[in-house]
Amino acid sequence: MKKINLDLSGKVALVTGGSRGLGKAIALAVAENGANVVICGRKQENLDKAIDEFRDMGKDIMVRVTNVGKSDEVTALFQGVEEKFGKLDILVNNVGMNILTPSVADSDESLWDKIIETNLKGTYLASGRAVKLMKKAGRGKIINISSIAAKKASMGMGIYCVAKAGVEMLTRVLAVELAQNNINVNAVAPGVVRTRFSRPFWSNEGLLKEITGTIPMGRIAETEDVVGTVLFLASGLSDYITGEVITVDGGSMA
Ligand SMILES: NC(=O)c1ccc[n+]([C@@H]2O[C@H](COP(=O)([O-])OP(=O)(O)OC[C@H]3O[C@@H](n4cnc5c(N)ncnc54)[C@H](OP(=O)(O)O)[C@@H]3O)[C@@H](O)[C@H]2O)c1
Repeated sequence: MKKINLDLSGKVALVTGGSRGLGKAIALAVAENGANVVICGRKQENLDKAIDEFRDMGKDIMVRVTNVGKSDEVTALFQGVEEKFGKLDILVNNVGMNILTPSVADSDESLWDKIIETNLKGTYLASGRAVKLMKKAGRGKIINISSIAAKKASMGMGIYCVAKAGVEMLTRVLAVELAQNNINVNAVAPGVVRTRFSRPFWSNEGLLKEITGTIPMGRIAETEDVVGTVLFLASGLSDYITGEVITVDGGSMA
């Protein structure tokens, strides 16, 4: 019988958008469980800060400036990973962004393109490159970070809701297409998590109270609340799970 544990020793994991917020917490946890970690982001200074934090915990990481929505930059990122490690075991498509948007019908095309590109196209581009490496190895794990916004239309977040719903269908499509290749594709859908991205929601006391009032557990998530589910999906514990979206929201969708 195979060993059942979260050990990721010897694995190579790429976490997109790993320089802060949820991505950084995931990257740290994956490294703590033994994997070699690669992170990317658009800004070198954010990556440099992350390098220092990882160094403080005795971990070396590889970083690459990459905009995940840009095909040539994603190609260069994966070339770098292949040159350094020769393989990729785990891809966490964590990059996502949102800004307060007008109704979808009133939104400029440029706004639509930016939000779809960062959340959905970036996940497609990185997954395609990762699958090439994973097919060679005969196995792999892809974990996409979605949101409860994928399931519930919210005012001011319409394009983001559409993009994340696309990420969830992409998760299922890839899972079915890649099951024969032993590549698991799953997603995690958090509710509000305390990061810079969600600051407008938690920095205003009145709004925070309103939000926590809709969450049965009575609080928003901290990054650690989400990390465990990602680790589970990255590990051998989830080998027979694919095409699944795990909601991590303190019960709010229930
Ligand atoms: N926080 C929440 O409440 C919440 C709730 C549900 C789902 N989520 C999802 O969780 C994921 C992580 O969110 P977060 O809250 O940790 O966000 P965050 O604090 O804004 O961090 C985003 C990270 O992604 C990088 N990034 C942004 N755009 C990028 C791009 N185009 N290419 C490459 N890197 C990029 C950022 O670095 P640079 O700025 O240097 O590029 C940063 O490292 C996202 O998919 C988000 O949709 C968040």
